[in-house]
Amino acid sequence: MTTAILTIDQGTTSSRAIIFDENFKPAFAAQQEYQQYYPARGWVEHDPEDIWETTVSVCQEALAAAREKGLKVVGIGLVNQRETTLVWEKKTGKPVYNAIVWQDRRTANACKALQQYEPWITEKTGLRMDPYFSATKIKWILDNVSGARGRAARGELAFGTVDSFLIWRLTGGKTHVTDTTNASRTNLFNLSTLQWDEELLALFNIPAAMMPEIRHCADDFGLTEQHILSESLPICGVAGDQQAALIGQGCFNKGETKTTFGTGSFALVNTGDRLTYSSHNLLTTVAYTLKEQTCYAIEGSIFVAGAAVQWLRDSMGMLSNAAESEAIASSVADDHGLVLVPAFTGLGAPYWSPQARGAIYGLTRSSTSAHVVRATLESVAYQTQDLVNSIKSDNIPVTCMKVDGGMVQNSWLCQYLADTLNVTVVRPEVMETTALGAAFLAGLQLGMRENLHDFATLNPTEAQFTSRIDETLRTQRKNRWNAAVQATLLMAKAEA
Ligand code: G3P
Repeated sequence: MTTAILTIDQGTTSSRAIIFDENFKPAFAAQQEYQQYYPARGWVEHDPEDIWETTVSVCQEALAAAREKGLKVVGIGLVNQRETTLVWEKKTGKPVYNAIVWQDRRTANACKALQQYEPWITEKTGLRMDPYFSATKIKWILDNVSGARGRAARGELAFGTVDSFLIWRLTGGKTHVTDTTNASRTNLFNLSTLQWDEELLALFNIPAAMMPEIRHCADDFGLTEQHILSESLPICGVAGDQQAALIGQGCFNKGETKTTFGTGSFALVNTGDRLTYSSHNLLTTVAYTLKEQTCYAIEGSIFVAGAAVQWLRDSMGMLSNAAESEAIASSVADDHGLVLVPAFTGLGAPYWSPQARGAIYGLTRSSTSAHVVRATLESVAYQTQDLVNSIKSDNIPVTCMKVDGGMVQNSWLCQYLADTLNVTVVRPEVMETTALGAAFLAGLQLGMRENLHDFATLNPTEAQFTSRIDETLRTQRKNRWNAAVQATLLMAKAEA
């Protein structure tokens, strides 16, 4: 029997389990979408039981397929949507409130009230005073769920991002842990000490007793309970999904850059072992830590990418499935003057406007749904251009952008990205690099390779795209996008 790794990729809109064989090639994948809840304007929640049940179900399906293929699964790598916040009872594992999703903006005012601390917070955490991160979400739960604050102070409640919650459940409550990459997204983690920061816990009024223990990305995260997955397996690799994608893309050297297009879109540059801060509104985050190595990254975070395509499908009825967007976008000759700003959950980097909301500019009587579909895909490229410009302004050269995630199956989008960014866009063979990164981390911990660099060549290039437009057109498009964003920000100010 050949050995294999089970990876769990718990994302914002679906849970996935992928089996990788000993050569780190995908052998089987299972996926289940689950319900999103929008209880109020700007709020986004998940039912923790949906997260749990879909995860267990895809894992069971994947393990059954592995057995059928004669593959012996020897360990688990787990990656997840980051920042999403859960609080549960230590005694029962029962959450006291729904998971508050990273996109949720309910704590915008709480963040405003703490705005004066932003420079201090950024120095410690690399992050900003924005509702995106976990700290104000935890505080909201403690302040709004009856009895929660007292129970947390008595040590009865646990906090965790999704990795932590799933590990708690999978190990039958035996381990309350997280990894450094997920910890680095909470606004409570000190990037220099790689530990929870007591001063930040005090600022946000969060009891230390709730916090999980922090481990490296390739580490011992406990054994799964036999009855849950029909076998007891070690969880030995954990990372936030965006950091995992950096690993799955083999970006192990300083200066290497990737963008993952999932629900949102996230550009990360490996900045090596020294803490580097952006002067252009990007974040500093942990890329990965291993026992003998710490690697940081600069990150540009866009809140809506694939989510806009999902919106076209589910709310606007303009698509019956996401894949259709490629044919529809290329069926029209141009954008017909339309610019769509998908600020459905505010704008992330480099604007950081939690109050901004989506807008379409340039509508006429002859605008069609195909133009709206095209403008939606174009907006993904324009937002990425904003990130790349910020990265370049931070004196980090970007000549090549490795791309991944479900959306980059769309070659029209990859070409539009290359046209817009004017850099070579490189698509790898395995586009599910988040899961592949989890497999690399687990494989490292299991001793399947000696060090992380040994994985660098395992995901070769499948296609490359270079710009086909001239500078004049690129500048025209950029100017229109900038004007649309400025109008959207003005509108947000008027509403505030
Ligand atoms: O920071 C949020 C990010 O981790 C979500 O990832 O893949 O669910 O869009 P995804």
